[in-house]
Amino acid sequence: MDRLDVLSVVSEIFPLVKTGGLADVAGALPFALAPLGVRVRTLIPGYPPVLAAIEKASVARALPDWYGGPARLLRTTIAGLELYVLDAPHLYNRAGGPYVGPDGRDFPDNAKRFAALCRMGASIGQGLAPRYRPQVIHTHDWQAGLTAAFLHFDGGPRPPVVATIHNLAFQGQFGRELLASLGLPPKAFSPDGVEYYGDIGFLKAAVRLADRVTTVSPTYAAEICTAEGGMGLQGLLRGRSDKLVGILNGIDTAVWDPAADPLIAQPFGPDSLAARPANKTFLQARFDLTPDPDAPLFGVVSRLSWQKGLDLLLEALPTLLQEGGQLALLGSGDAAMEAGFAWAAEAHPGRVGCVFSYDEALAHEIQAGSDCIVVPSRFEPCGLTQLCALRYGAVPLVARVGGLADTVIDATPMALASGAATGVQFAPVALPMLERAIRRTAALYRDKPAWRRMQANGMAADVSWNDPARLYAALFAELAGR
Ligand code: ADP
Ligand code: GLC
Repeated sequence: MDRLDVLSVVSEIFPLVKTGGLADVAGALPFALAPLGVRVRTLIPGYPPVLAAIEKASVARALPDWYGGPARLLRTTIAGLELYVLDAPHLYNRAGGPYVGPDGRDFPDNAKRFAALCRMGASIGQGLAPRYRPQVIHTHDWQAGLTAAFLHFDGGPRPPVVATIHNLAFQGQFGRELLASLGLPPKAFSPDGVEYYGDIGFLKAAVRLADRVTTVSPTYAAEICTAEGGMGLQGLLRGRSDKLVGILNGIDTAVWDPAADPLIAQPFGPDSLAARPANKTFLQARFDLTPDPDAPLFGVVSRLSWQKGLDLLLEALPTLLQEGGQLALLGSGDAAMEAGFAWAAEAHPGRVGCVFSYDEALAHEIQAGSDCIVVPSRFEPCGLTQLCALRYGAVPLVARVGGLADTVIDATPMALASGAATGVQFAPVALPMLERAIRRTAALYRDKPAWRRMQANGMAADVSWNDPARLYAALFAELAGR
């Protein structure tokens, strides 16, 4: 089979910079596609941690003036990932995260920072990098959304673009007065271009102008075409529904492998579940919880934001405690939510423990030691923590939305009787339903054979990238005319 070259354009990538699942996907997909004959190179901004990780790079292009300053396009390989790094110090070399400064606010020039990335993605598509012509460009989220717009309005030969929506809640909407400074021609400002409710919409441009639009689960693909889930883009998405497809995420099963995970206290597998409780003991100690092997231990690994519905979990805490449960939460984000959980931990010593930070190792320990992972999201394009939970024998308790609906089999009487259940779902996303789901989970936990069966089913589920990668490869091949 001939090799197919794909340029991925993305604003974060594991293990270099990560704020969420987007980075996990961008970092895992190249490895999953390689055995299928798809060679992915990824274009990312030269943030400080990216530049620091470079051991050896070549300069693919010197750029005397790229959006207001000198820049370079570097070509390098880090952690097995083939990368183009846009090294533009005036845009990316600063303290803070990829989007937000040390003061916790979005950088004021984010429109320009990511337009510069998109312009580079488009230009590489047109042949700017020596000896490289991608046959398909794959863009992720709003930050890469203008890539399709630049290619479209430049005219001329161009590779087809696949735009993947990881989260519709972030759309990259900016004032129209920025048009020229972003490098867009006046004609781009139209409903068939980047115009979005009188502003410039980065994600809108991608949805309108990409050759295909994908999102990260089939259910989310349907939800975003509705008024409830479309966040303003439902009309356009409905109009393009013949070009819209949902492809589930996988997880990197080498990074997330309970049998060989260096970050957990005691490795275990489907055939050695008896070794798993050592991780619960460890977790209880780590979170100052009472060392009780029989208390159902609920774990959370999450950004703390409205999307994730954890305010509901806070409200449902009395139910969780009534059922004899414990809670170990790792999260960061919304200050009010942090304060709420901190208060709960203080009010319930030995029963509720919280760590407010971003901690990769602790995330693994929570997956390995919790009995149940709770994901009560109001919306969830795919969700990765429930996939990790399945693989780690932690039974997921999830809202029946988006990718959570697609990846967990609810323990209905039928699913239990036929031995298919892998977790607990609730809908709609509201307090009484979550409380009921917690009671249902606790009852299942007390039914040891049923619980063990659910754990085994979850661990047997294929949460790898194998199937999704085949779907992406087929899509890329179709667009490349193979
Ligand atoms: P989202 O991208 O919406 O945040 P996902 O479930 O797709 O949600 O991906 C979240 C990723 O970030 C997972 O890999 C999860 O383990 C990780 N993660 C989230 N919060 C934390 C945290 N506080 N510490 C460590 N890892 C976290
Ligand atoms: C987004 C979504 C999450 C998804 C991730 C990776 O951050 O919120 O549901 O799993 O992207 O696609």
